[in-house]
Amino acid sequence: MEITDFDIYKNLLKKKSGLVLSSDKSYLLDSRLSPIAKKWGYASINEMTVALQKIPDTALIIDIVEAMTTNETSFFRDTKPFDILKTVVLPYMQEHRAINKTMTTWCAAASSGQEPYSIRMILKELDFKFAGWKTDILATDISNEILDQAREGIYSQFEAQRGLPIQMLMSNFTQIGEKWQINEDIRKSVQYKYFNLLDNMNALGTFDVIFCRNVLIYFDTETKQDILDRMSLHLANDGFLFLGGAETVLGITDKFKPVPDSRGLYAKEGSPIFEKSDSATQAIASGSLSS
Ligand SMILES: C[S@@+](CC[C@H](N)C(=O)[O-])C[C@H]1O[C@@H](n2cnc3c(N)ncnc32)[C@H](O)[C@@H]1O
Repeated sequence: MEITDFDIYKNLLKKKSGLVLSSDKSYLLDSRLSPIAKKWGYASINEMTVALQKIPDTALIIDIVEAMTTNETSFFRDTKPFDILKTVVLPYMQEHRAINKTMTTWCAAASSGQEPYSIRMILKELDFKFAGWKTDILATDISNEILDQAREGIYSQFEAQRGLPIQMLMSNFTQIGEKWQINEDIRKSVQYKYFNLLDNMNALGTFDVIFCRNVLIYFDTETKQDILDRMSLHLANDGFLFLGGAETVLGITDKFKPVPDSRGLYAKEGSPIFEKSDSATQAIASGSLSS
């Protein structure tokens, strides 16, 4: 591929999704955009590039951006964040949302659904504690194709086994041939919606917990800061933010601070969880609930 094509797609991707395409990833353009060129009836990527510059077709641009996203995910990915959800965040919410019995969660880059479904399965397991609660989960992504897969909730044997304890597989999925579909009660309890993290978040509302895992790594520092700063306006003052293992707020934004001894967990600067003296807060601040 000619360097000019690379630059054109690099700029397009950055502008439309924030994703940064480094030159060592130029091979991805060939493998991922060739099927798009074919689908749109172009003989080559180069021919598609020329057409794109003449008349930028929105639907084609959407296809290009989707093709360039990395959707790698798994159930209970990295394990620890979900342990922290169970042992730190949910006990805190139980105490601090006891009056309204409402807890809202946003999975901001949900991919094919394993992350929001993992959260839902944890809440289902703890049903005896959250009986009568409204625990909405909004799951968003920039890829409509991946959102359709998430809504369908059908996984290969490999995907279903990856990270998922066998008893959870047996109690929450139905086998369809060689695949597994997550049961309807779980599927219907997650709301899926297209959302680009570069877009205005005002219509989304405010959340108690935000998962924004393994997506910021694809953005430059300026974009990460912009997203995190705007996200802080959509997190309750005593809410929690989960980032991926290779992501941090340090050196990027001062709107969030790491929660002590809870790797990957952040709370808003000024959050009462860093100050207040009730038992759940103390346990969080000392990290004693996070083992
Ligand atoms: C590697 S997956 C992470 C999935 C899940 N959060 C996890 O940790 O397993 C990254 C997801 O971010 C989505 N994504 C990339 N750029 C985005 C953007 N600008 N807005 C929203 N989602 C985006 C991709 O489509 C992809 O599904």
